[in-house]
Amino acid sequence: MQQPVRIAPSILSADFAQLGAEVTAIDRAGADWIHVDVMDGHFVPNITIGPAVVKALRRHTAKPFDVHLMIAPVDPYLALFAEAGADTISVHPEAGPHLHRSLQAIKALGRRAGVVLNPATPVECVVPVLDLIDLVLVMSVNPGFGGQAFIPSALPKIAALRQIIDASGRAIDLEVDGGINRQTIGPVVAAGADVVVAGSASFEGGPSAYPGNLAALRVAAEVVQPAAVCAMDGR
Ligand code: DX5
Ligand code: ZN
Repeated sequence: MQQPVRIAPSILSADFAQLGAEVTAIDRAGADWIHVDVMDGHFVPNITIGPAVVKALRRHTAKPFDVHLMIAPVDPYLALFAEAGADTISVHPEAGPHLHRSLQAIKALGRRAGVVLNPATPVECVVPVLDLIDLVLVMSVNPGFGGQAFIPSALPKIAALRQIIDASGRAIDLEVDGGINRQTIGPVVAAGADVVVAGSASFEGGPSAYPGNLAALRVAAEVVQPAAVCAMDGR
């Protein structure tokens, strides 16, 4: 069942020189989760932060940490991110070598487990692991950078996953990440997403703009223009 929309600002678009204050500010502005993008310069062409930074940020908010790992190999680092304070840990099947084993490891650490689907990764790959996951994250950009344009082919993937999740009867969040703004959030939610990552759209304009940025996204999430969905979907 699709849940009420939760917004997960990605701190990738925050001011890295004052990350603690940024996390506190976006929490007070109304963030539901804090999305943490971890990149290794190998699995994706960018380098961000590691478990020490996640741990340091933990005392700046009580909101759930939604940790998106874009690192390979991923298994050796799962325990470090769990200990650092991650609530959900999401992994890419391509980060391998064994998705099922990685998800088992996350659950054994007592954390929520997520699978991330790149734009070219088919939705079917989550079916064999539905019993292990709490979240599916659909990438609507290629991972690595904030501020990229939304890829419309994510929309039919979200709709297909909504059907798969509902048919399973399991409580699995359906999250979307990349290029989310006031134009794209409505179609994404209409397609079936119930968690939305927003980096640039959350942090643009600095701390005084954050409450307005998140409020505008919430309003836009409820407003669906069918014509806009069709246009984005290439129909
Ligand atoms: C991209 C990251 C995203 C990114 C989203 O690899 O996974 O979370 O920060 O940034 P925007 O919302 O600016 O596209
Ligand atoms: Zn992300």
